[in-house]
Amino acid sequence: MELTTKTIKKLRIEHITKRFPGVLACDDITLEISKGEVLALVGENGAGKTTLMNILMGLYHQDEGTIFINDEPVHFRSPNDAFSHGIGMVHQQYMLVPNMSVLENIALGYKQAWNPLKLNLQMVRSRIEEISQKYGLSVDPDALIWQLSVGEQQRVELVKTLCLGAKFLILDEPTSALTPQETDELILLLKRMSNELSIIFISHKLQEVKDLSSQVAILRHGKIVFQGNTIDHSSKDIAALMTGHEVNLPQNDAPACTLGPMLQLKNLFVKSDRDFLALDDFSLYVCKGEIVGLAGVSGNGQKELAEVINGLRKVESGEIIFDGVNIANFNPRQVISAGMGYVPEERNTEGIVPSFSIKENLILKDTETMQFSNRSFLKNGAIEKNAVDLREQFDIRSPNVDIAAGSLSGGNIQKVILAREISRNPKFLVAVYPTRGLDMGAAEFIHKQLLQKRNEGVGILLISEELEEITNLSDQVAVIFKGKIQKVIPASEASRRRLGILMAGVKDDEEI
Ligand SMILES: Nc1ncnc2c1ncn2[C@@H]1O[C@H](COP(=O)(O)OP(=O)(O)OP(=O)(O)O)[C@@H](O)[C@H]1O
Ligand SMILES: [Mg+2]
Repeated sequence: MELTTKTIKKLRIEHITKRFPGVLACDDITLEISKGEVLALVGENGAGKTTLMNILMGLYHQDEGTIFINDEPVHFRSPNDAFSHGIGMVHQQYMLVPNMSVLENIALGYKQAWNPLKLNLQMVRSRIEEISQKYGLSVDPDALIWQLSVGEQQRVELVKTLCLGAKFLILDEPTSALTPQETDELILLLKRMSNELSIIFISHKLQEVKDLSSQVAILRHGKIVFQGNTIDHSSKDIAALMTGHEVNLPQNDAPACTLGPMLQLKNLFVKSDRDFLALDDFSLYVCKGEIVGLAGVSGNGQKELAEVINGLRKVESGEIIFDGVNIANFNPRQVISAGMGYVPEERNTEGIVPSFSIKENLILKDTETMQFSNRSFLKNGAIEKNAVDLREQFDIRSPNVDIAAGSLSGGNIQKVILAREISRNPKFLVAVYPTRGLDMGAAEFIHKQLLQKRNEGVGILLISEELEEITNLSDQVAVIFKGKIQKVIPASEASRRRLGILMAGVKDDEEI
């Protein structure tokens, strides 16, 4: 039933080079990985990690260099060629069809089930069953993709790749969108799987690298700058080798605000896409010059909260008082004009227009302001200068500001959104997972920027699952559970343990 006949004992890439216009994405890379090994590939945003893996998968073709499997050179013209050798990849951006079921999505790639004209869905179903049992990965074959949480979709991607017969797994930032619990589960699962598979694993989280990998390779500007046994190096060493300097995440130690409320959410009732109450009598306020961190397990109303504040979802009842004005059910344009900034979770669909250039994306919300337009004409000089300045300040890695934002690396797309939202000087910022997918140096920079905005009097609602990010940056921590505020506590009293208990929906007894 397997696609592959031979197992991969050794995979070697030799002198791989890949250029894009103005960018040397991979620069003479040589790497080797043997059966049963887990190689962690780490490096700054734009270092070339995804590009290298896309070459291994036959999605891009290298300009120079050769891939060897068991010492035989191979040439991949498409992902199908890579699959036929047993190499499978779970991408940074999931590639599932949202309005199809899990079963149908897996069937799409499962060639053996396509008997000349008819699809044998029963065969796909039993294959899913077999893989689920073998690896202890439970998925519901009949669930529709759009109904699944990100963690569940991740599992489907993995089951799909394994169903297709992958013996060599490539995982590009598999944990960046997972909850801490889902991350722990995935790492345990991959550990079990590593007995019989080889894995290349990309991550910005060094704890995972330490927990899972046997080998670590660091990429910088397209070059391998370090390779060694993971066990011989601490997370601190790896971080220093990766960024070239020591990383210290800043802390919010300024006194609490006294400037009065900037955003007040009063008794909000808001429905989810599936028509249940996502926000159920939700109330919270954030002062000027204050960061309120919203902690919670994802799926408890965070997404709907961010959308409803920004005019992207209807308020059934309740008020959103922003700087004295009720903006409930304003349209997004009106909310933006009122002075709201928004870093959304879905960066490719809500954060940027991928086919527009970087410089256009940086003024997306200001095409009608005097700064960048003159009635019917855009001021090209000002737009160019704005982009060049922000590119420098936010360290956006790109050859120029005219290329399509969609061709940037994952972390650099996030930097474009942050640069636009922070530099527009909003009165308030809703930041959803602002450092997801950023390398450690970039995350440190963004944390400093958020604290600086706070000190300038901007109110910030920080939605995140990284508890360290929340406790480092926030003045107050609010815990959301099932669409309600469970508790609001000063960040100084928000221990990991106390937050964990509140996030699980258990009432706080103050003693903890
Ligand atoms: N299709 C493309 N067209 C043009 N340039 C590209 C394309 N794909 C990648 N690049 C460029 O190649 C470089 C490496 O990008 P890559 O996506 O491999 O980085 P990465 O290490 O995966 O970063 P991240 O951690 O942010 O995901 C970047 O400068 C990026 O802009
Ligand atoms: Mg990448």
